[in-house]
Amino acid sequence: MSAAASPAVAQQFDRRVGAAVREGLAARPKRLPAWLFYDEAGSRLFDAITELPEYYLTRTERGILAAHAAAMIAQAAGDERLRARLRIVELGAGSADKTRLLLKAATDLQETVLYEPVDVSASALDEAKERIKREIAGVTVTPRVMDYTHGDGGRLHLGPVDCRERRLVLYIGSSIGNFEPQQAQQLLRRVRAGLETGDSFLLGVDLVKEDSILLPAYDDAAGVTAAFNRNLLLRLNRELDAEFDPHAFAHRAVWNPTESRIEMHLMSCAAQRVRVGALDLTMSFAAGESIHTENSYKYKPGQAEALLAETGFRSEATWTDTRGWFAVCLGRAE
Ligand code: TRP
Repeated sequence: MSAAASPAVAQQFDRRVGAAVREGLAARPKRLPAWLFYDEAGSRLFDAITELPEYYLTRTERGILAAHAAAMIAQAAGDERLRARLRIVELGAGSADKTRLLLKAATDLQETVLYEPVDVSASALDEAKERIKREIAGVTVTPRVMDYTHGDGGRLHLGPVDCRERRLVLYIGSSIGNFEPQQAQQLLRRVRAGLETGDSFLLGVDLVKEDSILLPAYDDAAGVTAAFNRNLLLRLNRELDAEFDPHAFAHRAVWNPTESRIEMHLMSCAAQRVRVGALDLTMSFAAGESIHTENSYKYKPGQAEALLAETGFRSEATWTDTRGWFAVCLGRAE
């Protein structure tokens, strides 16, 4: 290996990224896995998406939590006479913005609370920890850097709790919608396997609605979602020494009613060949050929409750907004 023959970037690339790109672009239709979106630039773009006027999801879910956080916490803690102390785990915590509403409600009920945010991004967890320490008294934050979707013999490892404590696991933000139905089931089973009977699980799902509302949320006027989608190609250019011209690919959001999902694509505007230096590969794209980058499943009313019931939880309560756009469901580990 001579440094002169190949650029530094090609020698240092992340094998996981390389393998995912090699596999995804060899598939027909071509695809790339959604976790590739969330490098530093992508995470920043996603935060910007959550503030777009068209992206109703974050705002709607925040409204539901603002109205019902106390009821959610009380329901999870259980009946007054048998009330347990809650310890709150959050999967894919990211910046933990909406979580603050629940943490505040928990400290109102029991004064102090242990909060265990789980994420693959250590930097996002550090930021969340600092912010929560600053803003809510009584919360002790113990971040855990881990990939909650994989590994460890099919169960989520959360560590022991005191006998008077119960866990409440949060999975909000409709991230469950980015999993295929079967993977979503698998994930909930993993979570259930890591819990004790009586622990609870709070799940946020985006609901099916008119495509005139759904589509703009994934194809906004300011083009932030398009930039987020195309950032994937820029990431491959940076990390894999690829030569994508991001503007030779168009952002496409499609509502697939049969599968009940929004699909995100990057569509090649012309026939083109693109070299990926680090993989020593040249990819061909036909005009109009697309790379499928993400699905966002939209749930029908009752579907999240059914998913909970299929995966070892008793569905105890559902909170929604007045328009019925988004639902937050509480399941009890049976
Ligand atoms: N979990 C988000 C969602 O499905 C992720 C997301 C929002 C997204 N906009 C996107 C993913 C655009 C890919 C492209 O709503």
